[in-house]
Amino acid sequence: MDRWTNPTIAVIGLGYVGLPLAVALSRDFDVLGFDIDTARIQELNGGHDRTNELTPDALTSSSAQLTGDLGALQGRDIFIVTVPTPVSEKNEPDLTAVKKAAETVGKAIGKGGIAVFESTVYPGVTEDICGPAIEAASGLKAGTDFFLGYSPERINPGDKVHTVDKITKVVAGQTPEVAAVLARVYGAMNGDRIHIAPDIKTAEASKVIENAQRDINIAFVNEIALIFERMGLSVYDVLDAARTKWNFLDFKPGLVGGHCIGVDPYYLSHAAQQMGYDPDVILSGRRINDAMGSVLAERIHKSLGIEGAKILVLGITFKENVPDIRNSKVIDVIRGLEAFGHSVSVYDPLADIAETKHEYGVDLIGEPSGPYHAVLGAVPHAAFNDMPIAELLEPDGLVADIKGIWRGVDLGAGLRRWSL
Ligand SMILES: NC(=O)c1ccc[n+]([C@@H]2O[C@H](COP(=O)([O-])OP(=O)(O)OC[C@H]3O[C@@H](n4cnc5c(N)ncnc54)[C@H](O)[C@@H]3O)[C@@H](O)[C@H]2O)c1
Repeated sequence: MDRWTNPTIAVIGLGYVGLPLAVALSRDFDVLGFDIDTARIQELNGGHDRTNELTPDALTSSSAQLTGDLGALQGRDIFIVTVPTPVSEKNEPDLTAVKKAAETVGKAIGKGGIAVFESTVYPGVTEDICGPAIEAASGLKAGTDFFLGYSPERINPGDKVHTVDKITKVVAGQTPEVAAVLARVYGAMNGDRIHIAPDIKTAEASKVIENAQRDINIAFVNEIALIFERMGLSVYDVLDAARTKWNFLDFKPGLVGGHCIGVDPYYLSHAAQQMGYDPDVILSGRRINDAMGSVLAERIHKSLGIEGAKILVLGITFKENVPDIRNSKVIDVIRGLEAFGHSVSVYDPLADIAETKHEYGVDLIGEPSGPYHAVLGAVPHAAFNDMPIAELLEPDGLVADIKGIWRGVDLGAGLRRWSL
């Protein structure tokens, strides 16, 4: 039987992307998942996924083997790399994890093997950085002894509809034969929803622009929100009206955090600058979105109209209904309000208490206990929709509703409302 009829697969990096992928691929293939975080491996083998992407049932019933043992990777046919690609303090691409993972692949890949990268990168990283790192560690030559591939990941944490087995996957290979193998492997998992890109750089570019496009559109909506707030107009009412046009793009204002939309445009702008091109639109979108936290703190402070207020912030994760607090911009609002002299308590039933303390020095409260001068809806977790916020507030308290969580809710007499 041809090696590629039923290849063995290793998935390297079992986070938001790698874990669901490993489990989905294991329905058709022999899959080994590897992660350097041994605590994560232990938790997963005990049936617990702290990212909430998979249920204990889905984990324990999967045939994927999950390990922290490097030796177990030897001789797999396909290696899929799904490790983080963050930015540095200076918003420069930090490729440390992909380079390390490439070395890991280099130590384990054999002749004819395929190394596929799924981490979001700028065009050129797979072939010009990861390929040579695999060559150095393996002594093999890319394109003849082993082959490269790229397949961007599009999943959206917390989204139970657009799961990895239901969305179209872009694949590219160093040769047409490799692209065909990858199309077949991924196609087995997602009902053959495959787009084969002409080459690896095109596939890399397609992913990074998907997120840069979202970032720019959100920046535009944030900008108009700040304009309309000064005019006394609700941006949500304006958007409701504009959205009735067939080709109006439907984006909402807010904080852009996490490790995709707020990060990936910096990968693209870095690559553009390397080619001598200064990307105005991409970077001004970033500037607007990165400044939103402190701008919101200033607007809310102004609306409050008092000094030393007691404020309850609802939500600290980077987006709704996920426990991920990494690169959350809510912290900028909190720090901004504190800088104005207010005292801020933060409640988030999804965020991990120890992780939040470690990452931001913030002690999450167990249960809100008012009265507060203001309640700030920062993240629209479903759990906040029906919260009796009026009961938590002083009689003339302020409801600051960044995301329009309580837009249609009658707050009763006395309470004030501030919304973008
Ligand atoms: N989270 C998303 O929704 C999403 C969506 C699309 C694309 N992406 C991209 O996918 C990539 C992975 O993102 P994620 O959210 O899954 O990250 P994550 O932080 O949730 O998971 C990454 C995992 O990789 C492990 N890891 C780090 N270095 C490693 C190494 N050298 N060897 C083995 N394991 C290692 C970490 O321990 C962690 O468990 C990033 O490039 C990201 O931009 C993420």
